[in-house]
Amino acid sequence: MKKKLSKKNIVITGASGDIAQALIQRLEGHNLILISRSLPQPVIPDKVDILINNAGFGEFSALTNLSDEQIDEMFKVNTLDLIKRTRDLQPQLQVINIASIAGKLPTAKSTVYAASKAAVLAFSDALRLEIPGLIVTTVNTGPVLTKFHKGNADYLEKVGKNAVSADYVAGKIEQVLGKNKREMNLPPQLAFVAKVRTLFPALVDNIGNKFFNYK
Ligand SMILES: NC(=O)c1ccc[n+]([C@@H]2O[C@H](COP(=O)([O-])OP(=O)(O)OC[C@H]3O[C@@H](n4cnc5c(N)ncnc54)[C@H](OP(=O)(O)O)[C@@H]3O)[C@@H](O)[C@H]2O)c1
Repeated sequence: MKKKLSKKNIVITGASGDIAQALIQRLEGHNLILISRSLPQPVIPDKVDILINNAGFGEFSALTNLSDEQIDEMFKVNTLDLIKRTRDLQPQLQVINIASIAGKLPTAKSTVYAASKAAVLAFSDALRLEIPGLIVTTVNTGPVLTKFHKGNADYLEKVGKNAVSADYVAGKIEQVLGKNKREMNLPPQLAFVAKVRTLFPALVDNIGNKFFNYK
């Protein structure tokens, strides 16, 4: 029988987001501390058990079209704030970093976003080694049907069935809560491609750029 995780203090960033909202519904019963630009700063308990670093956004455009502000803001929100918040809150049981499959399978027009998420993966791997006993889990998802893509509606149409729902991702996160899991790559078909790319990067990049260049 599945052992239920006892009530935990769980901090979630980017709480107004669609994945966060799906997660909040699934985690009722826990003490949820929500960090959001649209909410007053919450009181953080002395002991944070689990930190879910979810806040993030992407600007998908050719590098030469991105302004200094767009580049800085992506690294600030996706990477630097995540790092500093992890340092400041010192979660005791687990940190779950919502990175992206883009950190493993970069594509054209996602240069800065992919780099900001790849940095999260490296940060997470190093942190796991630095703090024995802390579970560090990365969630690396492909396209999710959320307002993240509101500026680029036809992208989701093009990726078709490779896109998953926010609740699917939230369900996967719920499954690894308190569990010793390094990373989750979603959905399975993109997890497979990411694995193959570690062995044959040039081959996967060439095929991907020719046939799956949707941004
Ligand atoms: N959707 C996808 O296809 C996809 C794929 C891979 C990874 N992800 C990652 O999944 C996480 C959640 O995204 P989502 O799909 O749920 O998108 P979402 O609905 O847009 O939620 C993201 C949340 O992050 C916060 N945020 C966005 N821009 C921000 C900014 N400039 N400064 C500070 N906070 C900002 C906002 O929360 P508040 O307004 O409440 O602060 C926003 O609601 C992100 O880290 C994203 O990179 C998404």
